[in-house]
Amino acid sequence: MSHQHTSTVTAPTEVRHPLDALTAQEIADGRDILVAAGLVGETTRFPSVLPVEPSKEAVAAFRDGDAIDRRLLFVLLDTATGASAEAIVSVTTRELVDHRPLGTAEAPYGQPQYLFEEYARAEEIAKASPEWQAAMVRRGLGDRIELAFCAPLAPGFHNRAEETGRRVIRSLTFLRSTPTDSPWSHPVEGLIVHIDLTTGAVLRVEDDGDVPVPDLDGNYDAATIGAARTSLKPIEITQPEGPSFRVDGQHVEWENWKLRVGFNAREGLVLNQVTFRDGDEDRSVLYRGSVPEMVVPYGDTTSTRFWISYFDAGEYLLGKNANTLTLGCDCLGVIHYFDGVVADDHGNPVTIPQVVCMHEEDYGILWKHTDLDGKTEVRRSRRLVISYFSTIGNYDYGFFWYLYLDGTIQVEAKATGIVFAGAGVPGSTDPHAPEIAPGLFAPVHQHLFCARLDVAIDGDRNSLSEIDAVGIPMGPDNPHGNAFTWTNTPLASESEAQRLADPSRARVWEVRSADRRNAVGAPTAYHLLPQPSATLLAQPESTVWGRATFATKHLWATPFDPAERFPAGDYPNAHAGGGGLPAWTAADRSLEETDLVIWHVFGPTHIPRPEDWPIMPVDYSGFHFKPYGFLDRNPALDLPDGATGRASCCAGGECSCGH
Ligand code: CU
Repeated sequence: MSHQHTSTVTAPTEVRHPLDALTAQEIADGRDILVAAGLVGETTRFPSVLPVEPSKEAVAAFRDGDAIDRRLLFVLLDTATGASAEAIVSVTTRELVDHRPLGTAEAPYGQPQYLFEEYARAEEIAKASPEWQAAMVRRGLGDRIELAFCAPLAPGFHNRAEETGRRVIRSLTFLRSTPTDSPWSHPVEGLIVHIDLTTGAVLRVEDDGDVPVPDLDGNYDAATIGAARTSLKPIEITQPEGPSFRVDGQHVEWENWKLRVGFNAREGLVLNQVTFRDGDEDRSVLYRGSVPEMVVPYGDTTSTRFWISYFDAGEYLLGKNANTLTLGCDCLGVIHYFDGVVADDHGNPVTIPQVVCMHEEDYGILWKHTDLDGKTEVRRSRRLVISYFSTIGNYDYGFFWYLYLDGTIQVEAKATGIVFAGAGVPGSTDPHAPEIAPGLFAPVHQHLFCARLDVAIDGDRNSLSEIDAVGIPMGPDNPHGNAFTWTNTPLASESEAQRLADPSRARVWEVRSADRRNAVGAPTAYHLLPQPSATLLAQPESTVWGRATFATKHLWATPFDPAERFPAGDYPNAHAGGGGLPAWTAADRSLEETDLVIWHVFGPTHIPRPEDWPIMPVDYSGFHFKPYGFLDRNPALDLPDGATGRASCCAGGECSCGH
């Protein structure tokens, strides 16, 4: 009957287009090629396996049915020696295309991503340490060792002799009272184990202070909370005629939009070849969009936490840690899911079922006017939502892309999960960590995301500028004092394009076509609309500044280079800094009428609050990318009135429109 909570799935099992996501067969075949080449031994592991995307020329020249050379990048780690390498294989020609060692032992260092098995290994090493055991006993926690949770945490970079160039992880201890107890409300404050994952050695155990473990119940599951409220009446979303989108493999069409949905282990969701139809022409907007990096730097001075600065994509892999989404809970309505394929620690394929969710959402009013004689025209807004969620340790991140009927693209990051906290003396004051529950102090930190938009406004040749609204001094140009205007400043080189947002000037950034003009003779364009957010608050002298330099600006731009994908560099883990955007943009390349990539940094600065405990309601952040003279008029004039797409609204009293 109704299409309430129904779903269909794209399982990536065949390759019909060069930008299609990796299949399980391709990952298995790629691994076989490495085995045949003698590169896979007993202690070889695979921190990351990613597609090597074809050149834009190859994609442009592709016609349905053409042969496709499919390539994969395998990162190999010998866990016995710590030696790392990158290997590129072609699963089409079945050959090893390239193999080169990674110089992880030489400056500026950098380690491949963590393996899942290293989390368990770090915990085993920590718990086997006599110093750690002694610290637990000294704190009166000797009977809690079995249930203790030793969290595996990326170390940052602090140029300590025993760590530099090594594969290091730090562990902080939390207590559980039962095996299923949420540990995060029970930090064992001041107990830090520094571990060399290659040798298995405990480099050092720090054991400072004797703050009691908070006696709190941090559980939030239904069994702990008890009976759920019964006051909410049902809201049912029904789509009796099904969704308005059409899916063919990874290709999607919805209203004027066309795109290809991609997914990989590092960036998670990727949108490819996004176009908007204008008349009978599909006009390009984005060649590729993703959120390839984020950093979570902590603002605490304690030995327990000053070093925390997680790069959740570059150190942990957002896609490998992505969730399977559940119909009726994560996703309401008529859903199309995309399965995702990643590699496990051994380089074998793992399918994450229903990793990307796509559906339509009513979004209130798109446009409306009531004229003087009382006649009203109103049309409802609707959006296509394409999203996924990734869980990295204590935090959960949703990445939502919204396509609107008026040509707008919105990106929204949703941060939720468990706030990372330490213990303190109840009622005391800590300038870096508010007390969010008695004895539980959550350090200030930031979640700074970086979107990478390979823009293509009416083709590849684009230019960038900054638009500010500006007041004018009282005088001949502003005789009444009311006047203001706008400035449009070209950002013609990489150094000029390193910009901060300025809400006091309504600042936006314009990407315009070099090749096409609109009905009023101006270049066709889109605007990036930032939301107010802080940039990196750490000091320029800090190591995190060097490692997360991308987060010191809201905007960067580069001319397209296929090697420039990750804004903190390929291997930010334990990296000395300077990789990614600061390195690439040092050349100060021209950005005029070129194939532009823009990088936008956004995200919440989190001064935690009691309401964030024991689980945090979603914090939203993001931006809009909106047509500005891309189209000659409102592209949604032809929408039907009425919410369902059928004719007529319900005018007063009982609805008589027969639905
Ligand atoms: Cu936070």
